[in-house]
Parts: sequence; C-alpha cells; structure tokens
Amino acid sequence: MRIVDLRSDTLTQPTPPMRQAMSAANVGDDVFGEDPTVNFLEEMVAKRLGKEAALFVPSGTMANMVSQMTHCGGGDEVILGDQSHIFFYEQGGLSALGGIHPHTVANQPDGKLPLHHIEAAIRHDDIHFPITRLIVLENTHNRCNGSPLDAAYMHSVGKLARRYGLKVHVDGARLFNAAIALGVEARELVAEADSVNICLSKGLAAPVGSVVSGNRAFISKARRVRKVLGGGMRQSGILAAAGIVSLTEMVDRLEDDHVNARKLAEGLADVNGLSIDPDDVKTNIVYFQATRKGITSQILAETLGGQGIRVLPTGPDRLRAVTHYQVTSDDIDYTLDVFSRVLK
Ligand SMILES: Cc1ncc(COP(=O)(O)O)c(C=O)c1O
Repeated sequence: MRIVDLRSDTLTQPTPPMRQAMSAANVGDDVFGEDPTVNFLEEMVAKRLGKEAALFVPSGTMANMVSQMTHCGGGDEVILGDQSHIFFYEQGGLSALGGIHPHTVANQPDGKLPLHHIEAAIRHDDIHFPITRLIVLENTHNRCNGSPLDAAYMHSVGKLARRYGLKVHVDGARLFNAAIALGVEARELVAEADSVNICLSKGLAAPVGSVVSGNRAFISKARRVRKVLGGGMRQSGILAAAGIVSLTEMVDRLEDDHVNARKLAEGLADVNGLSIDPDDVKTNIVYFQATRKGITSQILAETLGGQGIRVLPTGPDRLRAVTHYQVTSDDIDYTLDVFSRVLK
C-alpha cells in the first residue's frame, strides 16, 4: 500500500549525503571538547545565528531544558505561551528538573504573546512573588498553525525583556521554516535572543540533534547543565556530521514543504466534513477540524491510516498534517484523493 506519513516532520529519514558524511566523520570525545565534527557544527550554527558560541544536544527538549536551567535557578519564573511546546509537550520538565515556575500567557492564534500581556505577567519586587527571569518565544509556533513570528515582533519582545532585565529564549525548533516563510535570515529573527534552540531532526532531516546558541558565558554554563542532564555524548561527531549536511543542503528546500502544505490546505478546504482556512497555513504545519457528527479525530485518523494516509489527532476533533522532505507534491494529490474518498 502507498504510505504518505504526515504525522510529523520528525519522520524524515537521513539523506544519502548524510549517511555518507556520518560514516566518514572525524570524531573525538566531545565531553573533552575534542570532537572536531561537533566543534565544526557548533561554530557553524553560532555564526549562522549571529551568536558567539553553540552547544550540540540530543533533542529539542534537552535544548530547551538546558537553556532554561542555564538562565534560571530554582524558584525563578519563566513567562511562556500556554500553547508552547515547552508548556504542553515537555512533561513540565522545567518544574520537575529545574524547579522553575511557569507563568503562562495566552498565545494569540498567530503564536504571538501580546506585549502588554507579557508586561503584565512580569513580577515586581515583592517578597511573596517568584522572580521573573526569562521570556520564551516559539518560532515557528507548532500548535498555532506553524506560524512564523516576524522580526519586528521578535525585536519588540527583546526590547521589553531588556527594559526589565530579563532574558529571552527562542524555541526555534523550526526557526529556518520561519526564516524561509518570512524571507529573512534566521539571525535577524533571533538578534535580540539570549539563547536559541534549533532542531536538526525535524524538517532538516538529520536523524538526531538540536543546537543551543548564545554568548560564550551562557554556552559554557549550558555545557555543565547538558552534562548533568546526561547529554554529554562522546563521539557524537557521527551525529553532528548529518547536522552539517542539514544546514548546508536542507534549509532552502523547506520552501517546497511550505508549498506542499498550502496545496494540502487548499485541497482539504474543499473536502466535505473538514474545516480549515488555508490562509492560516504559512509554513509546513496544517491543522484542520473534523466536523461531521460522530467522526472524531481518532476515527478519521484511523480510517485514513487504513488507506495509508497517516495524520495526527491533536484534540477531540482537531488533526495535524505536516509536510516534509519525504512528501512530494504527487503525494499531496494522492492524499487529497484518499480524503475525498474516505469522507464521501
Ligand atoms: C516547537 C518544538 N519545540 C521543541 C520540540 C522538541 O523536540 P524533540 O522532539 O527533539 O525533543 C518540538 C518537537 O516536535 C517542537 O515542535
């Protein structure tokens, strides 16, 4: 059966050049700072994002955890979106592992946190309150239709943070999707950020890995935090080698994923029993609602799965489809055919 797997862009398989680079990688013990391939990747990311230094970690979750634990001590507070990946999908790790208190602000449908809501969430000096240390933004915003947050907004949050002596962390798991969608350099989007997570293992198709970047002092402290979280990986140049290919060969083609996502959204808008506004789709993430009585997201996903089309239920009637390197324009045509047949 023909399979089109749209559950996530994390499903991407490493490309042939990645496999080649991995087998040929020069490696050393990265905990000793002696893996030349990891060092090369870290320098590459730092330079590309306009930061002084960077740190290779196993996952986006660890990148966010390391960053938050480096900025904050126990009892400190982080302001973040109520729809953010960190708040929704990372097991409350910031409190469980970091003793850090989350203070949520409602994400707007475009993924932004309104400036006046952020400002209202900042604690003033009072013996009863935790101390606000950090503001976290997510760009693109996964649960908010994969929306890219523009440079002007990113800068304005940075300025607000500085006014109050706070730091900014950007969960840029899909930062390059945002940069491509907005037609700007990724470094522009994070110019005001004190730390940034980028993931290599999503649309960029590497098998494993994320990179945190920031200034030198931040990264050297983050390196200690990575170690205590079990993220010191020894000959991890094998993995970093794939990430180098991601950054050199896989960024510009993200545009194809965005075109395919838009095509999928426009097609789904014409299918009876679904609700979606294609204009909400700006990058590679497509959310839609199942609207027919008795057809829950679970039932629809299972029925489509039986026909080889894999999508992810993310709520009682909400589903997600994500385009990526292994999904072609022809796959989108086929997917739309199957949707029409299933919901006829
Ligand atoms: C926005 C965002 N941040 C962080 C992560 C976590 O990445 P990982 O699955 O590598 O831990 C994800 C994963 O999908 C994500 O979408």
